[in-house]
Amino acid sequence: LPPVTMSVAHIFLNFQHVLISALIHPSYCRTLEAFWLGCPSSMASSTQGSSGPSAKHTSVAFLKTHKTASSTVQNILFRFAERNNLTVALPITTCDHQFCYPRPFSAHFVHPHTTPPDIITNHLRFSRAELRRLMPNNTIYITILREPGAMFESLFTYFNQYCLSFKRVPNGSLETFLDHPWSYYRPQEKDSMYARNTLTFDLGGDKDRPSSEAPAYAKRFAAEMERVFSLVMISEYFDESLVLLRRLLSWDLDDVLYVSLNMRTPDSKSSLSSENTAKIRAWNAIDSVLYDHFNASLWRQLRALGLACVEREVQLLRQSRDRLVRSCFGGHLPPLRSAAQITNKELRPWQPSAKVEIVGYDLPVNMTQKGHVPPRDECLKMVMPEVQYTRLLLRSESLRYRKRFPLRIVVQKPSIMCRW
Ligand SMILES: *[C@@H]1O[C@H](CO)[C@@H](O)[C@H](O)[C@H]1NC(C)=O
Ligand SMILES: *[C@@H]1O[C@H](CO)[C@@H](O)[C@H](O)[C@H]1NC(C)=O
Ligand SMILES: *[C@@H]1O[C@H](CO)[C@@H](O)[C@H](O)[C@H]1NC(C)=O
Ligand SMILES: *[C@@H]1O[C@H](CO)[C@@H](O)[C@H](O)[C@H]1NC(C)=O
Ligand SMILES: *[C@@H]1O[C@H](CO)[C@@H](O)[C@H](O)[C@H]1NC(C)=O
Repeated sequence: LPPVTMSVAHIFLNFQHVLISALIHPSYCRTLEAFWLGCPSSMASSTQGSSGPSAKHTSVAFLKTHKTASSTVQNILFRFAERNNLTVALPITTCDHQFCYPRPFSAHFVHPHTTPPDIITNHLRFSRAELRRLMPNNTIYITILREPGAMFESLFTYFNQYCLSFKRVPNGSLETFLDHPWSYYRPQEKDSMYARNTLTFDLGGDKDRPSSEAPAYAKRFAAEMERVFSLVMISEYFDESLVLLRRLLSWDLDDVLYVSLNMRTPDSKSSLSSENTAKIRAWNAIDSVLYDHFNASLWRQLRALGLACVEREVQLLRQSRDRLVRSCFGGHLPPLRSAAQITNKELRPWQPSAKVEIVGYDLPVNMTQKGHVPPRDECLKMVMPEVQYTRLLLRSESLRYRKRFPLRIVVQKPSIMCRW
């Protein structure tokens, strides 16, 4: 049934049924949503006229920033890549699961079995020129920012034993740090980027611009980033950001369903006084300008789309996610557990220190026992932490590469043939 032959009455009468079909059959999806939600259609800018929805965009560079819900976006991109047989650029093993962060990104950090890539999303320090060399020239650049107060509190807790600027602070007290940051912070230390203007650093900027120049620099830098990135998502408005992302890439609602990853337990979070928020913003002045700039820009885009329609699409997104979670895990999400309690090693998140608990999902025992249908692959992947997922993708992409270019292995490393 081609969507154009459906009358309005038909859609209303069978709304429940059609809505469910729409979620299963992507081809109905956009037409129906556009009708129901009253949003400008995501294919409005299609140049293909009546030949149907514009093709999904597949070249994406997502700059993964720290402590911003970026792991969740990465997981969405990983799963999209797998479903569509796309190549994800992955780090060489000596770079770990990040592209040798905090060194500025270089195309040399990319594993040769993962080129030429369609998507890049693992942590890296942004370098426009190097990414241009690597990625297709129609690549869409995306990143995500978080409110500086909440973000700094999160960094301080997460890296309290890892980053020297934080480790020196007596009693691990954020207040003590904020009262005299220069007593603990050393700009030249190799892990200092977690302790000041982390977003600016990740974006390739100068985190230590002297305060007299910082305001003008921050403005210039924000304008430059605005030219590079087609979308800067905002963690505080994550689902709203996904509405924009999906439109930008002409993806279906099903392509952006997610569950939150890499979170802390509620009791390792502390709430900030407005005084401390102000101190954090002063200390991270460049990040604060960036955040305010791109938060304003996000809301401009949302208003242009129509706030009522955005809200309805966010509801639709959450309903679809709940449905997927039900079908995956029979009822609700698997219980959140600390890493040590998670029996399935593939699902254990990385722990930065003993003082902060990052939680992950464990599968209910009855789902992993013999005799029970194991959860579908797509369900497992949705709750898989980034380190394990990165390893898994590297394995499958290497396999594909070797099938495509068997001769290259023989020439380069004959011994590998034996192991396969
Ligand atoms: C991906 O590749 C598999 C195996 O080669 C194939 O069966 C499948 O149809 C492909 N999917 C897409 C979306 O191209
Ligand atoms: C991308 O760049 C290559 C080489 O620089 C060029 O041949 C090609 O036409 C470009 N493609 C697009 C879509 O601009
Ligand atoms: C650290 O904590 C101890 C015990 O709670 C307290 O006696 C001490 O004054 C604290 N030090 C600082 C610098 O706050
Ligand atoms: C983001 O911008 C909106 C719209 O201007 C504003 O209402 C909101 O308070 C801002 N959010 C934060 C966290 O600053
Ligand atoms: C697994 O066990 C839990 C609690 O015992 C139960 O609620 C759930 O329905 C079971 N799931 C499956 C798939 O059997």
